[in-house]
Amino acid sequence: MRPTKNICCIGAGYVGGPTMSVIAQKNPSIKVTCVDLNESRIKAWNNENLDNLPIYEPGLAEVVAEARGRNLFFSTDVDKAIDEADMIFISVNTPTKTYGEGKGMAADLKYIELCARQIARVATNDKIIVEKSTLPVRTAEAVKSILDHTGNGVNFQILSNPEFLAEGTAIQDLQNADRVLIGGENTEDGKLAMQELVNIYASWLPKDRILTTNVWSSELSKLVANAFLAQRVSSINAISELCEVTEADVQEVAKAIGKDSRIGPKFLNASVGFGGSCFQKDILNLVYISKSLGLNEVADYWEQVIIMNDHQKNRFARKIVKTLYNTVADKKIAFLGWAFKKDTNDTRESAAIYIAEKLLHEQANITIYDPKVKEHQIFSDLEYLGTLDPEIIKQRVRVVNDPYLAMDQAHAIAILTEWDEFITYDWRRVYDKMVKPAFVFDGRGITDGLNLEKYDFQVFRLGKSITTNKG
Ligand code: NAD
Ligand code: UDX
Repeated sequence: MRPTKNICCIGAGYVGGPTMSVIAQKNPSIKVTCVDLNESRIKAWNNENLDNLPIYEPGLAEVVAEARGRNLFFSTDVDKAIDEADMIFISVNTPTKTYGEGKGMAADLKYIELCARQIARVATNDKIIVEKSTLPVRTAEAVKSILDHTGNGVNFQILSNPEFLAEGTAIQDLQNADRVLIGGENTEDGKLAMQELVNIYASWLPKDRILTTNVWSSELSKLVANAFLAQRVSSINAISELCEVTEADVQEVAKAIGKDSRIGPKFLNASVGFGGSCFQKDILNLVYISKSLGLNEVADYWEQVIIMNDHQKNRFARKIVKTLYNTVADKKIAFLGWAFKKDTNDTRESAAIYIAEKLLHEQANITIYDPKVKEHQIFSDLEYLGTLDPEIIKQRVRVVNDPYLAMDQAHAIAILTEWDEFITYDWRRVYDKMVKPAFVFDGRGITDGLNLEKYDFQVFRLGKSITTNKG
């Protein structure tokens, strides 16, 4: 097997872009080309002005500035990059299917298959194919089957190398990964291919953090890691509802249980519901696989994580309506935050979208401020739901660049993303400009230290005693 000198990554999205940037930064002697069909995305990756990269991630611009043009390239010429590469990462999207068998649950693998077929068509020498996308267990079998039938004598080794980065901390997660997981075939060639990929990561990570397993364990581990993380959020969210009616405080409970080293303190922040492109999709995928294999109890167990998450979003919206005297019709509700978490401009599956949908059905007027999400993205998120009249969206939704403008004359504020800047606002000024009584619905538990009640705000905090809610 020849040493890797040339890497190609198909898919320059939230995973492909940052991952290849760090691989290139840490391996200056390897040429890394990230390709995508989306021309505007590639144009943005090549933009001189690093503020205009297609993805906002703290630290990403610095890494791109260091490597781009040296050994990191972004291009739309997919065939050329495939042809030149010794190793090809597939990092395309694998959304939940919206049609046919498995609709609403199974992963849609059409983009993966297209990549495999394109590689099969173009490749003229042996290559290592790395599954970077999150895939159902045993997908490598299908990829292999397509690649093994090219008829041109090219050999492919298929590795699974799922990505564990979280958005908002992608660069930190990549540069200092807890672990890298590489699954491959237990054959001579399989082991050599795994070693090639180990070498790439070993240029910056200690060897004991690079795990090698069989392909199926690697594919499945990714789904399981996300299912466990999401399960923790749904668990603490379930407890948040219990806290609200028992005068227990969810943050105190989280701290108390998190001190147990077997439980640990992370991922215990009660919230308005988890979002992001991964958790829901990957759990649905796990549920679908389990059901397909006749493992109904396993499927039901994991499905409950999603059911709880939907419940949390619904009850937050209901709480707003109920507290505002059972009607939000024509009232102004200010949204602070639209991204699914702080430090990212990604809005996929963000709880804010669903809260907005429910309030719009109740005829509320919504004014949204998010420091990183653009207006066109917010409108497209709402239109994509397909449940709201586009005219109503236009009439009732406003997106502003100034948070004070968003909250001016509002009946209520809903905090839906935990952006740090929200706690730095002049809350006296905000209070003075709102319709009274002025309500705050904190869906992220960030206002505790602010003592908003001292300005006479009426504050609902998730997982806090219902007596703090004067509604
Ligand atoms: P994304 O939608 O941001 O990026 C995927 C890109 O692939 C798009 O730009 C699309 O245009 C491109 N693409 C699709 N088909 C193509 C083709 N045939 N040729 C060239 N380009 C093509 O998705 P993402 O968030 O980067 O996720 C990619 C994969 O990584 C998914 O399987 C996801 O589950 C997984 N993942 C995502 C995250 C995350 O935080 N976003 C974390 C870990 C794993
Ligand atoms: C997740 C996984 O963490 C990552 O390992 C995987 O590679 C991709 O999926 P991501 O979705 O980017 O990453 O962000 P994450 O930090 O996991 O947050 C997911 C959602 O859960 C967000 O909406 C976040 O606000 C929410 N969350 C997280 C909580 O509500 N409470 C918590 O305690 C933690």
